[in-house]
Amino acid sequence: MCGIIACRTHAPAVDYLLVALRRLEYRGYDSVGVAVKTTGGQVVRIRTVERIDALDRAIRGGTGYELDRVGIGHTRWATHGPATEANAHPHTDCTGRISLVHNGIIENAHELRQALSISGHHFATGVDSEVLCHLIEDCLTISGDLLCAVQAALASIEGSWAIAVLEERTGRVVVAANGSPLLVARTEHGDFAASDIAAIAEWTDDFTVLGDGDVIELSVSSAGQSAGKNGRKPVVRQCIWRNGEDGLNGHADFMAKEIDEQPTAVSRVLDELGPNIANGRLWHSLGLAPFNRLQVIGCGTSLNAGQVICNLLRRVGGVPASFSVASESAGEIVEPGALCLAISQSGETSDVLNAIVSRRAVDPAMLALTNNPHSTLARRADAVVNCLAGPEIGVAATKTFVCQVVAGVAVMVSALAANGCLGRSAANRLVDDLRRIPAQLSSAGTVAKCLVPPIAEELADAPGFIFIARGTGIPYAAEGALKLKELSYRWAEHYPAGELKHGPLALISSGTPVVVVDNADSKLANNIAEVQARGGRIISVGSLGSTVPVTGELSAPWGPIETIVPLQILARNLALFLGFDVDKPRNLAKSVTVE
Ligand code: F6R
Repeated sequence: MCGIIACRTHAPAVDYLLVALRRLEYRGYDSVGVAVKTTGGQVVRIRTVERIDALDRAIRGGTGYELDRVGIGHTRWATHGPATEANAHPHTDCTGRISLVHNGIIENAHELRQALSISGHHFATGVDSEVLCHLIEDCLTISGDLLCAVQAALASIEGSWAIAVLEERTGRVVVAANGSPLLVARTEHGDFAASDIAAIAEWTDDFTVLGDGDVIELSVSSAGQSAGKNGRKPVVRQCIWRNGEDGLNGHADFMAKEIDEQPTAVSRVLDELGPNIANGRLWHSLGLAPFNRLQVIGCGTSLNAGQVICNLLRRVGGVPASFSVASESAGEIVEPGALCLAISQSGETSDVLNAIVSRRAVDPAMLALTNNPHSTLARRADAVVNCLAGPEIGVAATKTFVCQVVAGVAVMVSALAANGCLGRSAANRLVDDLRRIPAQLSSAGTVAKCLVPPIAEELADAPGFIFIARGTGIPYAAEGALKLKELSYRWAEHYPAGELKHGPLALISSGTPVVVVDNADSKLANNIAEVQARGGRIISVGSLGSTVPVTGELSAPWGPIETIVPLQILARNLALFLGFDVDKPRNLAKSVTVE
């Protein structure tokens, strides 16, 4: 949540800040702002609650100064205080000497604010981050040195932070991290700090991830040197995403592009993992002990993928498997021999990271399934599986979902084969079925692009939607409902179809849209009839004869994965028809680094 960028470059800093902010926008887009040093020695602060184009215009239209080669920037997902220009970062201290951008939460902001106010500080906003500016202001008065001042100020802070601080007098920039992601990079264009490698991928492949407690000055002589409490030199890592992977490439929006990329992304997963599934090598390569039960934690789409993986393990291996919402999983009992599978596309979701910490007390084996092998989750787990979806820019998850499902299923099939719970030929048959998924996703997309847009248009006035399914179809109904509510801002709830008669049927009246994920379960027909008897409008996706038929192994142990494509297309088309931005739904962000 919130993206930060800082740079000290050989050419004007704004040219880099604007590019980076566009790439960080997925982390939050309630407001955006920069603070940049001028050649005259001042710092100019420009902020807006509009999008980055507006910031660009405001920067280029500024007069009376020439912008220099050092600056900081921020794109905000509001936590404390509404999305106003005043609350937009960068924030400053009383003197205006300090400009600061922050990602994270200051948990003791209220107490610090009170103490600082009593000692004479004037606060311009209600944003928690502003207390940092005033604390640094005080520490700077004592030490006169920005690096020491930031270190001293952070000693009073409880919570999480990735910060960049620009001092007007010296033009020095100090960055620090604790519980929020931040990386630094030395490039031929200059030195950078950013929340995410995607922000600076145009200028470098190599970067260094800051550890908790690190405080670093961004300068020619010291980038990459830890001055924090850990006293160790951070490891230089390599970016696996290449430039050019993140353009629209002729698509109308990133969601459209990422839906279309699903077959290729799943093929990539299978090319990478496929040869080592049935022989158990994939599992052995993770170096984990055999397990006798699985506990999955995740949030949102990642949890829906986790539900699919649990279904597979139970059905194919008879292994007990449960899944829980990460934010509510702290008190869960971890049984001996359990494997904990933490799923997160970003690998930075606070709820997931906190759930891991709570489990570390009993120390089960921890496997991370993530799209970001450099993430905090990946670093904290005992083993990591990269879901290899490539950059996903649309805030609503699409290709990361199918890649999580396929990579997670591959690992579990491999574990069952390695531990003797699944014979080689049965495992080979499952791998053959997995290899058919890319073609099935592709054909589902072709059919859905013809059939779904008029349905979406017809349903545009419906205030709410119900999604139903049975058995292995349920996670896909959950994911379809999540996509629809995220993008179209319409109510959408999913239920096991058998549950309708226990309450939700009261919601059905003439024309109520009921989306059925049809995995050919024979009991679904009765549930559909119950809805139709009350005038509900059935839109079925799945087996032959459905409103939107898909071809595939609908009864595979991972369920009707192909049905997710029409459901994604339904959500997107409805949102577009209603005039909404499908890549940046309101109130959401792609990397959820607050609890
Ligand atoms: C839905 C969506 C969210 C995320 C959730 C977890 O489209 O994107 O529900 O799935 O916030 O995020 P990660 O997977 O990064 O932990």
